[in-house]
Amino acid sequence: MSDVAIETRALTKDYAVGFWRPRPRRVVDALTLTCTRGEIVGLLGPNGAGKSTTLKILAGLVFPTSGEARLLGKPPGARATLADVGYLPEQPAFPGTLTAEDVLDTALRLHGERNGASRHGRADAVLDRVGIGAERRVPTGRLSKGELQRVGLARALVHEPTVLLLDEPMSGLDPNGRLLVRELLLQVRDEGRTVFLSSHILPDAEALCGRVAMLAAGRLITMGALSELGALAPRGWELIVEAVSEAALDGLGLPTEATRLDANRWRFRIDRTARPEPLVDALRRAGARLVSLEPRMETLEEAFLRYTGTTRGLRGHRADPPEGMEDGRS
Ligand SMILES: Nc1ncnc2c1ncn2[C@@H]1O[C@H](COP(=O)(O)OP(=O)(O)OP(=O)(O)O)[C@@H](O)[C@H]1O
Ligand SMILES: [Mg+2]
Repeated sequence: MSDVAIETRALTKDYAVGFWRPRPRRVVDALTLTCTRGEIVGLLGPNGAGKSTTLKILAGLVFPTSGEARLLGKPPGARATLADVGYLPEQPAFPGTLTAEDVLDTALRLHGERNGASRHGRADAVLDRVGIGAERRVPTGRLSKGELQRVGLARALVHEPTVLLLDEPMSGLDPNGRLLVRELLLQVRDEGRTVFLSSHILPDAEALCGRVAMLAAGRLITMGALSELGALAPRGWELIVEAVSEAALDGLGLPTEATRLDANRWRFRIDRTARPEPLVDALRRAGARLVSLEPRMETLEEAFLRYTGTTRGLRGHRADPPEGMEDGRS
């Protein structure tokens, strides 16, 4: 059995845009990537980068213009593939009169589960897992956004697929819900399933994903473990001191600016190119007490901005990646 769960090769999608003279617009551009069994891979990128389109192609809902995709060696959308794949759309929607129980019952029927009692039991178990209580018997048309999101997740999971395609699984969830879903996805991974998820919530991606793929304007900018991407690289130092007056600080004529944290405490940020010792010494001579000195690591958010090219990359769409990005570095 191959280790590869998801594979795309030069996957490309053009949409025709414009009514009178439709022109092709490339929204996924020669995307080549693989996800291994049992890993959680994050798909990150600004609005319009092509994340949802990529997931829709893998779910078999959208046909690629060219290139190839395989899930467990099979083409997306084929009957044999669908049994192994769970998909959570960006905005899960259900016929409003159906309850969560009905939705899951229908899903299991479509997956060939004939035994009513078994369907009921499986639906109950997965609703418990996503934290849906008595709301499971309320028409979904009346559920809150976060509840719908959970029902969507339950539907993606209920037939126990090997591959999960989740389009922003944390969207709309409160902090408890996010924690619950995080833990759920880690369990799902430990069961040997593969999770490919898109996210805008970078701390979630940071906490969950063994590897991330960064997309911008349909192109893969970079893919790898966070450590390989140079994310979370040291950016310098953060020093916190207390028991020193503003006057004493002024008197020192320090090159680094202090931020007051409270009546008694100050924070200094020191650039990666400088050493913290001279500042620590000067502050101690002025009577300050050292509270903490810690390396300041780059967050995934900072790495993401570095790779996708700050504000320009986060808005609008680019025909071409910014200069110097072809090699995956900005
Ligand atoms: N059916 C369509 N016809 C034309 N253009 C489309 C169609 N569907 C998507 N697009 C365009 O394709 C681009 C990529 O869309 P997609 O939904 O994949 O982005 P995304 O990365 O998921 O963004 P977001 O973070 O906002 O969810 C967008 O510019 C969008 O306008
Ligand atoms: Mg999207």
